[in-house]
This record gives sequence, C-alpha cells and structure tokens, in this order.
Amino acid sequence: MWEALRAHHRDVADRRIEALFDGERAEDFSAVLSAGDGDLLLDYSKTNIDGAGRAALIDLVELVGLAERRAAMFGGATINETEGRAVLHTALRNLDGGPVEVDGRDVMPGVLETLERMERFASDVREGRFTASGGAITDVINIGIGGSDLGPAMAVRALGPYHDGPRCHFVSNVDGADIAGVLRVCDPKRTLVIVASKTFTTIETMTNARTAKAWIGEAVKDPAAQFAALSTSQEKTEAFGIASERVFGFEDWVGGRYSVWGPIGLSLMIAIGPEAFRAFLRGGQAMDRHFQAAEWGKNLPVLLALVGLWHNQICGHATRAVLPYDDRLARFPAYLQQLEMESNGKRVSMDGKPLEVESGSVVWGEPGTNGQHAFYQLIHQGTRVVPCEFMIAAQGHEPELRHQHELLIANCLAQSEALMTGRTLEEAKEKLAGRFEGEELERQAAHRVFPGNRPSVTIAYPKLTPFVLGQLIALYEHRVFVEGVVLGINSFDQWGVELGKELATALGPIVSGEESADGKDGSTAGLVRFLRAQAE
Ligand code: F6P
Repeated sequence: MWEALRAHHRDVADRRIEALFDGERAEDFSAVLSAGDGDLLLDYSKTNIDGAGRAALIDLVELVGLAERRAAMFGGATINETEGRAVLHTALRNLDGGPVEVDGRDVMPGVLETLERMERFASDVREGRFTASGGAITDVINIGIGGSDLGPAMAVRALGPYHDGPRCHFVSNVDGADIAGVLRVCDPKRTLVIVASKTFTTIETMTNARTAKAWIGEAVKDPAAQFAALSTSQEKTEAFGIASERVFGFEDWVGGRYSVWGPIGLSLMIAIGPEAFRAFLRGGQAMDRHFQAAEWGKNLPVLLALVGLWHNQICGHATRAVLPYDDRLARFPAYLQQLEMESNGKRVSMDGKPLEVESGSVVWGEPGTNGQHAFYQLIHQGTRVVPCEFMIAAQGHEPELRHQHELLIANCLAQSEALMTGRTLEEAKEKLAGRFEGEELERQAAHRVFPGNRPSVTIAYPKLTPFVLGQLIALYEHRVFVEGVVLGINSFDQWGVELGKELATALGPIVSGEESADGKDGSTAGLVRFLRAQAE
C-alpha cells in the first residue's frame, strides 16, 4: 500500500518546493471551509506534494475504506474495538443533526437534556442564583487531568475575550504546588470546585479533589455543597458526597481527549456563557458536516492528515511543530499532544500485529512569535527537518492594536517563506561582501546559509471566535481519525498509560518507607534511597 508513495518520494525528494509554483499552485494546493464566522483556509502549497503525490495519498484513504470507517464512527458502531465502545463525541455537538443510535437507542435526547442541565447550572452560577456559603461564586476550580483538563483549560484561555463569568482555574498535577497556588488566590466561601473525571478514579484528580474538599471544609460546614462532578460514574460521585443535581454524566462513547464538547466543558460554559458555548459546538458540527461531505481533495481534515502521513511515514520526519500565531492558543499544542499522541502513538494495528510504518508523529510547539526567539534556530538550520503547522487569524481581538496584529501576520508568513526559500551560500556571501573576504568570507557565510526547502502548512481563519475554535478542534480530531484509519490502528484506546500508573501505585508505599525497595531494579531502588535520605 505504501510502495507507490515511497517510489514517488524517491523521484521527488531532491526537488525544490518553490519550483512547484506555477501560478495556480497556491489555490490548487489549499482548501477552504466556508461556514459560520467566515472562511477557514488550509494552505499546503509549501510542501513537496505535487498532483501525482496527492493522488497517491488519496489512494491511501480509498484503499483503507475511509468512507466506510467514517460512516461507522458517525453511525455509532463499536469502532473502539479494544474497549468495546462506540466513538461518538460528534453526538455532543450534533445540535440539530437528527438521531444518533448506539445499540439501537437514540442517544441524542440524553445528550441534549444534559446540555440543557449544564446550561441551567452555568447560568445559575454566572447570574448568582447558585451561591456558595459566602455568596455568589467568584472562582471556579476545575480539577481534572489529561482530557478532563487540557480541553477546557486550553479553550478558556483561547476564548478570553468572551469570558464574562467567574474566574476559572485549572488544577491537574498531583504535585501539591499546583493546587496550593490556586487555593492561595481563592476564597473558600465563594469558590465552586468542579471535579472532572470520566472514571472518577484517577489518582491525581481524586487526591486534589480531597485536598480541595478539606480546604473548603475548614471554612464552611458542608463543603460538598460547593462541588460539582463531571463523570460517567454516578456511583462514585455519590460516594464522594456530591448531590446528583450537580453531577453531569456522559457515556463511555466519549473518550477523555474528545470530551470538551460535553460535561467536561462545564468550566468553559461557565466562563463564556451557554450561548457562546453553543456557538463553539456549532463550529465543531460544521467541521463534522464538512468532513462527512467534502470530496477527499477538498476535505480539510483528510488533507491535513495526508500531509502529515507524507511527512512522517514517507519522508521520515518524526516530529511536527504546531505554531499558533495566536497567543490565546498557547495551550493548543499541549492539547494536541494528548489528542494526537495518546490517539495515534500505537505500535500495533487493530489486529495486534506490529505496524509496518511509523506511528503518529511527535507533536510540539509554542505560540509565535515567542518560538522564533527560542527554537526556530533549529527549525531553520538544524540537520533534521521539522514540518511546521502555522495558525493565524486575519483579525485580532484588539482593534486598537491592529498594527501589532499586522506585525504578527507578517512574522507568521515570513517564517513559512524563509523555511521554503532559504538563503544560498552566494546570497549569504553577497550580504557579507565588504565585511569579510577570502576564506573568512566563506567561513562566515556558511553560518548564514539557510537550506530552505523545509515544508509547512498554514491554517488561516477569520478570528478566534467560539465557532472557529470549535472548527479548529474538530479539524484536528478528524485529522487524528483519518491518520489512525490509514495506519490501521485504534485511535481511541490508551493502554500505553497503564503500566506507569500501576508501577506508581506499587511504588507509593516504597517511597513512603512502609515497604522495602528490595526487588526493584538497582536504579529505582537507588533513587528511592537518595530521595528518602535527602527528604530527612
Ligand atoms: O491516563 C490517561 C487518561 O486516561 C486520559 O485518557 C484521560 O483523559 C485522563 O487519563 C483522565 O481520565 P479521567 O477523566 O478518567 O480522570
């Protein structure tokens, strides 16, 4: 299945990307989704993919039966085969899309009822009808980790201009520094704590939840009255003492890293209000419709996935930088790290056999322009090629600072241009002429050469609104899905996190000194001894 693409790559590997521009390439190698708040553009013209390469990549999705797999996902089939579950986060944003059945039962009435309950509760909190012992809520603390943290934390930051509800804080790390820092700035009599955990067993979350309960308990009689829970386990939330009217449930067909659209998004809804939250859902739904209807060559998630497969599995570039030129998307790369790497970081295919090609790429990044003054040096002149994904809005939220936004855009475009065109030795020498000569000129110029021919894609959108953020998240969710289908893996389990959890549980009593470290490997036992000795 990969051979045609590998052969094509051998033929074109040394070609310059600029040489592909023929006047129409920018339009031909980009795709647009027009919906809601304006046009969302994916430009992949600054890659070494040509018409034949694109056709061969599209053959991949035909060969693996992407259309059938996509229909199976949206149709509620049990595609998460290792956990025996459907994958239906899309139902959470299916505001007016008709019934969605799992095992012959329409799940939409339940989804919409929970959404309305969340809306009533969020409005009560925002408008001061839900009060804590000291009055209206001033601060909300979401305690959760992984998918129960990254989505809402990223989105609350991204949608800062729409944030007109109480302050929101996010506590995830079991490191006491995290919760201590947040509790220090909150009033226990005016704080709502949301315990976000699909399973309600995650050790970090439950430990932090107990710490928060004790903190509120020092100031008020009934701390649990200031708690809400977001979970699939009603039994466990009840055992923790949280009244059922403040428990917002969801079903096991919502994966943790896909869960911001439902109850796990409660902190976001409290921050921006139910109306803006619905706009966020509608953005996700617009991307779903596009993903389901657009032909492969115009389908944004499909194209984004295919470009990624070309760079990673064919060209061998193991990492990918996601570079939002949008400071409010500062947590977006971290959010994508879980979405992509927990989904597609798998070594066997669905049938348990080792993968024939590399798994999903290492995703990393920081907002521009900050990254330019940090790691871009390596991206431009390092020996490894790092494909880049730039993200940029046409408009900022600060009309009075338009000139700064224009500078931001100029920087974003300059980076992709520089990566592609580079600077030759001759050009470098020309720049230095007059300052150096002879061997010294050669030596100095060599340091100023940019090889160029480094690929990037640019995702451009009108403005970072709730609708657009919904589109962007759903774009990447479906990108992950397409990549997973082509690789033949299950993108919806995460067995790779289990071993560490088990060993941490076993190490707990060894670290606290209740049990001996004998039996552990020499390094681990030595580290335990060192840390215990230094803690005395
Ligand atoms: O450890 C991985 C994981 O299971 C993620 O998949 C999940 O998002 C996170 O832990 C938190 O899980 P929960 O919501 O059940 O607390």
